[in-house]
Amino acid sequence: MTTATTMTTMTARLSGKRALVTGAASGIGRASAIRLATEGASVHCADLDEAGAKATAETIAGEGGSASSGHVNIAELPSCEAVVEAAVGELGGIDVLANVAGVLRPGHTLEQAPSEFEFSVAVNLTGTYHMCRAALPQLLDGGGAIVNIASAAALQGVPYNAAYCASKAGVVGLTRSLASEYARRDVRVNCICPGGVMTPMTAAGFPVENIDPALFARIAPQMPKVGQPEEIAALVAYMASDEAAYMTGSAVTIDGGQLA
Ligand SMILES: NC(=O)c1ccc[n+]([C@@H]2O[C@H](COP(=O)([O-])OP(=O)(O)OC[C@H]3O[C@@H](n4cnc5c(N)ncnc54)[C@H](O)[C@@H]3O)[C@@H](O)[C@H]2O)c1
Repeated sequence: MTTATTMTTMTARLSGKRALVTGAASGIGRASAIRLATEGASVHCADLDEAGAKATAETIAGEGGSASSGHVNIAELPSCEAVVEAAVGELGGIDVLANVAGVLRPGHTLEQAPSEFEFSVAVNLTGTYHMCRAALPQLLDGGGAIVNIASAAALQGVPYNAAYCASKAGVVGLTRSLASEYARRDVRVNCICPGGVMTPMTAAGFPVENIDPALFARIAPQMPKVGQPEEIAALVAYMASDEAAYMTGSAVTIDGGQLA
């Protein structure tokens, strides 16, 4: 009886929470949306890939969860404002914002056009800022949690990834600034720094020619495994939950010991 009660409490950790998840069509965002819903949250799945976001919402609904979906381009503030409005319309408010959407565009720094750098920053960093800015009024109305997905690349130089590293380091700074600014207003802001995770983003390998493989010797997990999206989603759910009530401004690595 005690065991059953405990399990019910655990599975309902996010019961009553209303979550907006970006990047929900694929990889870590899809796994996070499903995990949040599995733990009792109502989830609005948003992505540039609207059909993919819809498929994630349908998966959640098919498993008995509560989910809706819609389009967002996080690089554009009006689109972020619109998706927040849509999520509030579907869910009645927002308690959790999971900023998972992101892009990876590796290349030789001197060969990539500056517009490639600007694009990565526009999505990964400015896009995360846009979503925080658009959703904060909702989160401040009753309290809430933001979980941003940064990267181990925010904390460790990765060759041929200047834009990605810079944009993700910016996400850590954004997270800490917002955490500090809203610490007394019941909004927690944390970020996750995953190492390599098997998703469509990484499954294609490293599409850059003429690289020096020796430069990658440090960029690897020490554990003999590859991270799975569900392992990152579990941390998203913890950070989103009231169990993380004392956690804000944290950048947590989950990288198989890469940065250990
Ligand atoms: N996979 C890894 O090894 C890894 C490691 C560290 C951090 N991350 C980060 O985790 C997050 C998720 O990555 P993933 O591996 O699941 O990749 P993914 O490519 O599987 O998913 C990324 C999702 O973001 C969406 N997206 C891209 N640009 C968008 C935009 N402008 N507006 C809205 N949605 C947009 C895509 O459509 C896609 O569904 C990213 O922020 C990524 O940088 C991934």
